[in-house]
Amino acid sequence: MTKILVTGGAGFIGSNFVHYTLKNHPEYKITVIDKLTYAGNQDNLKEVLEKIDFVTGDICDKDLVDKLVSENDIIVHFAAESHNDNSLNDPLPFINTNVVGTFHILEAVRRHDKRLHHVSTDEVFGDLELDDPNRFTEETPYNPSSPYSASKAGSDHLVRAWVRSFNIKATISNCSNNYGPYQHIEKFIPRQITNILSDIKPKLYGTGEQVRDWIHVDDHNSAVHLILEKGRLGDTYIVGADNDHVNNKQVIELICELMGKGSDWYEHVNDRPGHDMRYAMDSRKLRSELGWQPQYTDQEGMRAGLQATIDWYTANDEWWKTEKAKVEAKYAQQGQ
Ligand code: NAD
Ligand code: TYD
Repeated sequence: MTKILVTGGAGFIGSNFVHYTLKNHPEYKITVIDKLTYAGNQDNLKEVLEKIDFVTGDICDKDLVDKLVSENDIIVHFAAESHNDNSLNDPLPFINTNVVGTFHILEAVRRHDKRLHHVSTDEVFGDLELDDPNRFTEETPYNPSSPYSASKAGSDHLVRAWVRSFNIKATISNCSNNYGPYQHIEKFIPRQITNILSDIKPKLYGTGEQVRDWIHVDDHNSAVHLILEKGRLGDTYIVGADNDHVNNKQVIELICELMGKGSDWYEHVNDRPGHDMRYAMDSRKLRSELGWQPQYTDQEGMRAGLQATIDWYTANDEWWKTEKAKVEAKYAQQGQ
């Protein structure tokens, strides 16, 4: 059996990765390391806790990271501080976890000669103009805008340097905005779904013209698995599902429609400082070299993925209800 260490496995994408792996890749024995910050929730794994090893711990803990890396064959690194708005209020945890934590993972991977996959974001490339027809590729220069994206860019550069200088066996993926079950309700799509379920109007930052290239979390995780199996060591892969046809305003209108509200049942709130305009992904390398194909793509796929996500938040209100008032109170302080 191949032993796989999943950092940040109690978070949104990491916990979906654990479920996806148990379902589709029984050849893996999984260990999770997660600090259980406000964004981590062990309940995301409650049905499978007996099938995995769960370690509560910090990736900045050098000795713990060294031990866990030495005991596993593959490390898939999801752990991060992940929310832009929080990084604008308090950047330090982003530097610690995303930069220093990744450094400790890299050093342990180097010492024990293990295989690493580093999970990153499209936000390291900065943004595109709304009328720019181009998409991000593996060659796009880095140009991050926020403390979050700068800290992720820093982590990517560390991985690239450790590949080049120390020849570690690593790959990187840069993926666009994910949605799906278990996503923290501070993020755009689950915030709006749980707003409507709480009879609160969805909140649109600024004009809502901004574009994100939405991808369902299962499509992201199928890409990560393919890269683990067939990816070229040292390479970067762009992951995106061709959903850059809708702006934030249209996503809110679609959610309103799918949830039986009038398409104008939302309100404009303060914009985010330095708000990135448009992200769009060119994932041709992943598709042509590794044969990746997303399930939830284009207009119909996005509709189906959103409907499934709405159904999940509707059926699992005990998962988010207790957090809702706190999250909204924090946003209200910022006029958002
Ligand atoms: P998340 O915030 O939902 O989860 C992060 C997890 O990491 C949490 O469980 C948290 O407890 C854990 N964690 C934080 N600091 C830690 C530390 N010091 N030690 C150990 N665990 C720690 O984030 P997510 O949305 O699941 O994102 C996962 C990864 O994917 C991140 O690296 C993020 O940059 C990347 N990514 C996210 C998106 C997206 O749309 N959410 C898109 C592309 C890439
Ligand atoms: P978010 O989910 O925070 O992801 P990211 O900052 O990584 O793109 O936000 C997605 C988009 O939605 C972004 O353009 C900001 C916008 N947004 C809103 O309009 N309203 C909201 O309540 C939130 C949280 C985000």
